[in-house]
Amino acid sequence: MSGGRLAGAVSLAGGLGLIGGGYGDSGWVDREWERAGNARVGCGFITWSLAQRPQILERALAHRPAAIMLSFGDPRPFAPAIRAAGARLICQVQTVSQAREATEAGADIIVAQGTEAGGHGMSEPLFALLPQVVDVCPGTLIVAAGGIADGRGMAAALMLGAQGVLMGTRFYASQEAMGHPAAKQRIVEAEGGQTVRSIVFDLSRRMRCLLLILAVCCATATPRLGWVARASWKRGWTRLGASTQQQGSEAISTSLVSLPVRVVR
Ligand SMILES: Cc1cc2nc3c(=O)[nH]c(=O)nc-3n(C[C@H](O)[C@H](O)[C@H](O)COP(=O)(O)O)c2cc1C
Repeated sequence: MSGGRLAGAVSLAGGLGLIGGGYGDSGWVDREWERAGNARVGCGFITWSLAQRPQILERALAHRPAAIMLSFGDPRPFAPAIRAAGARLICQVQTVSQAREATEAGADIIVAQGTEAGGHGMSEPLFALLPQVVDVCPGTLIVAAGGIADGRGMAAALMLGAQGVLMGTRFYASQEAMGHPAAKQRIVEAEGGQTVRSIVFDLSRRMRCLLLILAVCCATATPRLGWVARASWKRGWTRLGASTQQQGSEAISTSLVSLPVRVVR
C-alpha cells in the first residue's frame, strides 16, 4: 500500500516516506521509485525474504535511497552494503534482543514496533517494548510504531523516550496510498475494537495451507500476523474452510485477498 506516490508525498510534507518493498519485486520497486518523483524516499524490506533475493537490495540502492528499513530477520549481512551506498540503516524490531542485534548491525534508527502495528508483528505492546528499547540502545535514534494515528499518540511515544514515530495504517486511508477505496473507507469508518489479529493475509499470498504456515512460524519464529476487521475475519475463515475443501489453495487467495487490514480509531 505504500507505493511511490504515498512515499513521495510524505517526504515532500517533511517526513520520510518509505516505499514498501515487502517481499521484493525489483520491477515493482523501480516503478514505484519513478512515481515518487523528485522526493527523497527510502525503501523497506522483509529481511528474511531479502536473504532469498539479495539482488533486489542492489536495485533499491541504485535509486540512492535516503534510508533502507529492514524488518523481521538479521540485518547484519545487509548493513555494509547499505552504509556503503550512503543510505541510513533503519531496523524495525519487535523484541529487546532484536534491538541489541540492530545496534550491533550499526543501525542509525531503531523502530520499536509494538503488537498494535498493522502488517506483520509480534506480541509485545508498544508501551512495554519502547522504554526497554530506549534503555538498551543509548545513543541510537529510537522511533515508535504501532497504533499511533495522531498527535496524542506521538506525544505519548515521545514521553516514553522515542524521538519520532512511524505510522502505517493511518496512511493507508490516504488518497496517495495504494489499495482499494472500499478498504480505505472501512479503515476510516471502523473502530479499533472491530479488528482481530490473524494470519489470513499470509494465506491470501498463495501459501499452500495453514499447517505449512504454522510449521514455518514455529521453525523460524518470524512474525506472520496482521490485524483484520472482525466481521471479515469470520466470513473469511468460513469461506476458507469451504474453499480449501472444494477448490484448493488457488481459491484461498482469491477469496481472502480483499480482506481489509486493521483499522484506525
Ligand atoms: C498494510 C500494511 C503492510 C505493512 N507491511 C510491512 C512490510 O512489508 N514490512 C514492514 O517492515 N512493515 C510493514 N508494515 C508495518 C509498518 O512498518 C509499521 O510497523 C506499522 O504500520 C506501524 O503501525 P500502524 O500501522 O499502527 O501505524 C505494514 C503495515 C501495514 C498497515
